[in-house]
Amino acid sequence: MEETGRKKPKFVAVVLAAGTGSRMHSDVKKQYMELRGLPVVVRSLLRFEENELIDSVVLVTGRDDLQLALSLSLKYNLRKVKNIVEGGDQRYKSVYNGAKAAGEDTDYILIHDGARPLVSDELITRCCREVVLSRACVAAVPVKDTIKRCDTSGFAAETLERASLFAVQTPQAFSYPLFMEAYANLFRTIRAYHPDESKITDDAMIVEAMSDQKVKLIPGDYKNIKLTTPEDMVIAEAFL
Ligand code: CTP
Ligand code: MG
Repeated sequence: MEETGRKKPKFVAVVLAAGTGSRMHSDVKKQYMELRGLPVVVRSLLRFEENELIDSVVLVTGRDDLQLALSLSLKYNLRKVKNIVEGGDQRYKSVYNGAKAAGEDTDYILIHDGARPLVSDELITRCCREVVLSRACVAAVPVKDTIKRCDTSGFAAETLERASLFAVQTPQAFSYPLFMEAYANLFRTIRAYHPDESKITDDAMIVEAMSDQKVKLIPGDYKNIKLTTPEDMVIAEAFL
């Protein structure tokens, strides 16, 4: 950290596991599926448990899975998991519930998809170091495919310039006061204008739209995939 001599900033990770995993089409929700002998979310939690800069972890899960989450955190001795809270019907609501539980003494929060079990220790550390400098940063990788925008009839309308396109991953890390202020602004905007909430797909969007803070893209990792569809499980197993 740049601030030697000062108190170490408090980093809290919010790990999200409150989705339904509809695109995985599995009986067990994807975050609780076993991947080489360990549930996916446990693998994600262990990465934060083992990182020396992370102070504590908030686990966000569905109401029906609160007991399961608690028993897993005991079984795998996840000492940093200090809170297990219920999520919401949209990702950003799950994020907010987790962020509230982090507590007022938090300096920085790292939001992470529980469905990204391959996040590396180096990437978590990189996020922690960069957020102290820039106040808002997200892991991202250059897109490999050519991306086109299509018109409403399904015809290619535009080919976007690949060199400026990045696929955003998690962790996404923010100054805690900045993040909570952006959310307060978001809720005011939702009350006033009732926008389409399904368009809020990541946390950085909220900070970009609801504060003056610029969000820095930092190098992510192509291995840090989000388990979304069944073939992603095969890819993750191969990486492990
Ligand atoms: N998530 C959450 N609360 C929600 C929606 C998503 O905590 N209301 C979490 C998921 O559990 C996952 C992460 O956010 O770890 C990324 O979301 P995504 O991959 O879209 O997962 P799901 O929404 O569960 O899957 P799907 O969109 O296929 O239904
Ligand atoms: Mg989803």
